[in-house]
Amino acid sequence: MAKPSEQTLQWIGDHHGHLSLIDQTLLPTEFTTIDCCDLNSVWESIKVLRVRGAPAIGIAAAYGVCVGLQSLDFETCSREAFFSRLNEVTAYLATSRPTAVNLFWALDRMSARAENLLRDDLSVNDIAIALLKEAIDIHDEDREMCHAIGRHGAELLRGGMGVITHCNAGGLATSEYGTALSLFFTAQDQGKHLRVFVDETRPLLQGARLTAWELLRRDIDTTLICDNMAAQVMREGKVQAVVTGADRIAANGDAANKIGTYGLAILAKHHNIPFYVAAPSNTFDLSLKTGEAIPIEVRADEEITNGFGRQTGPTDVTTYNPAFDVTPAELIAGIVTEKGIISPVNKESVMALLG
Ligand code: MRU
Repeated sequence: MAKPSEQTLQWIGDHHGHLSLIDQTLLPTEFTTIDCCDLNSVWESIKVLRVRGAPAIGIAAAYGVCVGLQSLDFETCSREAFFSRLNEVTAYLATSRPTAVNLFWALDRMSARAENLLRDDLSVNDIAIALLKEAIDIHDEDREMCHAIGRHGAELLRGGMGVITHCNAGGLATSEYGTALSLFFTAQDQGKHLRVFVDETRPLLQGARLTAWELLRRDIDTTLICDNMAAQVMREGKVQAVVTGADRIAANGDAANKIGTYGLAILAKHHNIPFYVAAPSNTFDLSLKTGEAIPIEVRADEEITNGFGRQTGPTDVTTYNPAFDVTPAELIAGIVTEKGIISPVNKESVMALLG
């Protein structure tokens, strides 16, 4: 991301404060932040992708808990009423989007912290203060993890390489440096010149609208392509690595990411190009043995037939709009985490690093 004041997510004020976030639905033409002062506006912002990307969704949910609790008077409400509201808030936020596990991870962490605080016999007001601190910690830890991912992953990239990425796994999807894009930003910091091909990423164009925007703001050599051009670009020998983010990774290394990622991994295999995933450890869901169990969000027909204000399909045509797909572990050359690189990718190597 560009200037420090332009944070994807920012908490404003004390525990009575609110969440401010960049409205990503308006980029790249409008740069606007919106204030989320009630639970519904946080839920809606996640649902309609004003804030999106697995780590950013998790951070927004953690802050969303703090926003949702503010319907209570912390000075007068009972601990029972506080915990009943906490359960209500976390259950509601959990319905916003199903695939990115970071959302559920963050909500679980906030609930677990609250349980611990309950045992400490604190006042409701002090618990609310401590929960905001927990959300800020989640935010800060994400920033650190992204930088560590960049440091590990940049080792995989040489100056002069062409790389492809899909969707947006940059500062907009995280607290700052991104996951996949952190590799490119770090490589650039190390003086390596990369040419980055960006899939536009139908239907919501996160690649075109967000990734290309972020890369240009950091003066990275950026080439935007339509999703269906990746095979041709690979055949022409223009890329030597693919790097994407992930929304949920199963215990065997199968990785869910934006729809189209699986196809890109198959293309990379065919052209003998390494396919890497970059994600923090809280994107792993070790409770799922394989990617088959990852819930895939299916979104509205209009995203295909009426995207961005123009009708591009016949009225009443049947559509199918899965927002994510799962890339099997055998197509992934390595998963770059903040703890190091998992390669080869299988359940043993995942457990060895994270288990
Ligand atoms: O639907 P989105 O825009 O939330 O999907 C995001 C992606 O698929 C990203 O590539 C992924 O979350 C990685 S974010 C660091």
